Amino acid sequence: MRWCSALVFSALIAVSWSVEDLTFPPGFKFGAATSSYQIEGAWNSSDKSESVWDRFVHDEPTRIRNSDNGDIACDSYNQVERDIEMVADLGLDYYRFSIAWPRILPSGFPNYISKEGTDHYNRLIDGLLAKGVEPFITLFHWDLPQSLQDLGGWTNPLSADWFADYARVVFTLYGDRVKLWLTLNEPIVTCDLSYITGITAPGVVSPDVGTYLCNKNLMLAHAKAWRVYDEEFKPKYHGKVSIANHLLWFEPQTEADTEVAELALQHLAGRYCHPIYSKEGGWPASIEKLLDKLSLERGYARSTLPAFTQEEKEYVRGTYDFFAFNHYSGRQIRWAKEGETFSQWPLGDAEDLNGKIEFPEHWPPTASSIFYVYPEGIRKQLLWVKQQYGDLEFVITENGLDTLGGRDDHDRISYFREYLKQILLAIREDGINVTHYTAWSLMDLFEWMDGYHSKFGLYEVDFTDPKRTRTPRLSAHWYKKVIKAHSLDVTVNDEL
Ligand SMILES: *[C@@H]1O[C@H](CO)[C@@H](O)[C@H](O)[C@H]1NC(C)=O
Ligand SMILES: *[C@@H]1O[C@H](CO)[C@@H](O)[C@H](O)[C@H]1NC(C)=O
Repeated sequence: MRWCSALVFSALIAVSWSVEDLTFPPGFKFGAATSSYQIEGAWNSSDKSESVWDRFVHDEPTRIRNSDNGDIACDSYNQVERDIEMVADLGLDYYRFSIAWPRILPSGFPNYISKEGTDHYNRLIDGLLAKGVEPFITLFHWDLPQSLQDLGGWTNPLSADWFADYARVVFTLYGDRVKLWLTLNEPIVTCDLSYITGITAPGVVSPDVGTYLCNKNLMLAHAKAWRVYDEEFKPKYHGKVSIANHLLWFEPQTEADTEVAELALQHLAGRYCHPIYSKEGGWPASIEKLLDKLSLERGYARSTLPAFTQEEKEYVRGTYDFFAFNHYSGRQIRWAKEGETFSQWPLGDAEDLNGKIEFPEHWPPTASSIFYVYPEGIRKQLLWVKQQYGDLEFVITENGLDTLGGRDDHDRISYFREYLKQILLAIREDGINVTHYTAWSLMDLFEWMDGYHSKFGLYEVDFTDPKRTRTPRLSAHWYKKVIKAHSLDVTVNDEL
């Protein structure tokens, strides 16, 4: 282990949790985010093909809370102008959205490029630029073409080539105007959450094997797409490409639990970061060792974590232009006691690590009950990443609170304010170069297995209204003020 968390914690305790100057550094940028399946609707319009999420929600509607689905969602496919108006009204520096692969390439492959699909994103990109808002595109936010899933999806090693081919098409279509790119959003959800639990599409359960095949192939897919941009597009367009990982902070319950907390961070964060950002590349050594041992104990012939060849390690290592991550919450972890039983990873305990998850009473739960509010966690997370991978440029690609609704959302304002304060502390006290902050989300949207139950939006969306009317919440007014003042030192007017 190259890093001792006890050292970092004592360093953190030494500084107070207050920050006096609430101004952001010059050039710091604010945005908001959405993703294609969660907002677009129009699931079967024109020549768009079925995605794994279309199939997943239609096959067995009860998989989703209240049998909700994204068939119409926010109807954003038909409401591009309204979405741009909201983004412009907030004064965002950039808008992060994703492209639906099956809308651009209905077969999954570049043999046919949809004109309607292409036009849709041209309208959005050009409309944003006309308002002075930078488009920030995610290539893949979970809606894989079903045709590719039928060929094994991300467990097929050829999926890295399929993704790079798709990426090349998108860079060709929009690279002249779009300079900020993310390859994959939260690969840990695509692999771990999906293959361990089956509660997200494609609904294939293969915890020991599928999870890690997917993990390795996604690392290669990201690297291939990054290299396509780097070699074929960067020389003329000068944009930046990275990957948006989901980082969940693990806090040791006591000093004696430091090692299991570090193991949990390596398992969930390291497995998706180390191959790309570390100096040596490949899997984190502690996880490679752990899965080697577990695989043999479970009767497999070899580790179910597929090894990287030296050539693959070199190929994936260094494929980033900044460090992007989504962050919502933390977990407290401790070593399990003799005979204790476990709930299911990755939302529950860390059985493979012999770790039990707990939530301290002073971490308030949120509507979805998978996230607990712990603002200090984001600063500790940033410090951990810096210790692991060096002094990088950090881009926060998602952060936000899910509530049960209501326009007077002081709880959301307080969440944003406390997390942003911790980011300011990270910048000032820890010398961490955070350059972008992205609120999740621009508006209420289809929140995967939680349907329309939990609300993340700065704008409320009325899902009972065929027009899907959007109304700004108090937090939208507050965020607009913060962006304008470039500071957290603003007051919010309760009058809407
Ligand atoms: C598209 O799906 C809707 C259900 O969401 C259905 O009512 C409609 O008939 C479908 N349209 C086409 C062209 O298949
Ligand atoms: C932060 O990163 C950006 C982008 O790489 C760079 O332009 C800037 O100089 C960095 N700032 C600091 C304080 O290192």
